Amino acid sequence: MEKPGKRIAILTSGGDCAGLNAVIRAVVLRADELKWEVIGVKQGAHGLLTTPQQIVRLNAASVDTIMLRQGGTILGTTNKGDPFAWPMPDGTIKDLSEDMVKGFHDLGCDAMIGIGGDGSLAILQRLAALGNFPLIGVPKTIDNDLGLTETSVGFDTAVAVATEALDRLQPTAASHDRIMILEVMGRDAGHIALAAGIAGGADVILIPEIPYDIEKVASHIKSIRQNGRNFALVVVSEAVRTAEGARLMHEFYGGQKRLGGIGQVLGVQIAELCGAETRVTVLGHVQRGGQPSAQDRLLASAFGVHAVDLIAAGKVNRMVAWSNRQVIDVSISDAVAKYQKVEMDGSLVKTARGLNICLGDQ
Ligand code: F6P
Repeated sequence: MEKPGKRIAILTSGGDCAGLNAVIRAVVLRADELKWEVIGVKQGAHGLLTTPQQIVRLNAASVDTIMLRQGGTILGTTNKGDPFAWPMPDGTIKDLSEDMVKGFHDLGCDAMIGIGGDGSLAILQRLAALGNFPLIGVPKTIDNDLGLTETSVGFDTAVAVATEALDRLQPTAASHDRIMILEVMGRDAGHIALAAGIAGGADVILIPEIPYDIEKVASHIKSIRQNGRNFALVVVSEAVRTAEGARLMHEFYGGQKRLGGIGQVLGVQIAELCGAETRVTVLGHVQRGGQPSAQDRLLASAFGVHAVDLIAAGKVNRMVAWSNRQVIDVSISDAVAKYQKVEMDGSLVKTARGLNICLGDQ
């Protein structure tokens, strides 16, 4: 008698990014080949907490090629609410992890594929250990800060968006003799700023990994102007600190705090020190939305197929990863334990210095 196929759950967790739907599509298509069932869990793992669970059954017919091109996630996602310390409406904190695990088991699933960044994968791994179910992680983050993978789904698109922003800022900067400051996302890693800054021809790139001296930034810009160029482009990563060492945060509804605001501070300082007009653009969530780049579609497709194949091979607690031109798999614990900042002796830092881009320290 033929062995019955598996039933697997898939969810997207943490901040969205371009390419998530392409991962979902690849997982569903590969699972369909193996005659497995796929259940999409909505709003991250939160969909497992309700009765009935918030789910959608996915099959080859429900995942057409539109999903390759579609930003966001059809499953919804969230970057709030740790099940091990869940904020209750009355202000208390409760551990709901057992309820979430029960929600998973009640679906009759054999394994879970979790698409997430470091925070989400760490939580999903704890849930998988508690519920004793196989978990395969797929790395996604525009920040590209997850360890043991050269790149994650969403990063390439975010860099393309930030690069396009510089392409658009350059002519208006030149027309008005202005210094344009572009603040980009990235959390505590400067990957987006560094990559987009090089690709978009920035004169100054400030990242959290390299402490800067504002006088050096100003003197670099002044020398550009003295040499006859009337404009300059500055890219700054959101976690860059002020000269006094403060990490700037915005507070949002419900008390949530997010990085932001360093661009404005630098804009004022650079204007005063350089005696020139500055304007500040905060790119924000534009970096996460829109169509995924071809590179992100490829990565997402390769990751999705490999994630299903890992389950078929009986592997557990592995994260698919990109290394040396191919898909590999690594331990989820090792990947989340290694926060991947920009390496000081890495190729892109050397490239920026070789192009005479000011990184704020020289
Ligand atoms: O981690 C992805 C990210 O976009 C960061 O770059 C940014 O700091 C944060 O999420 C923004 O979070 P939210 O979507 O909650 O505003």
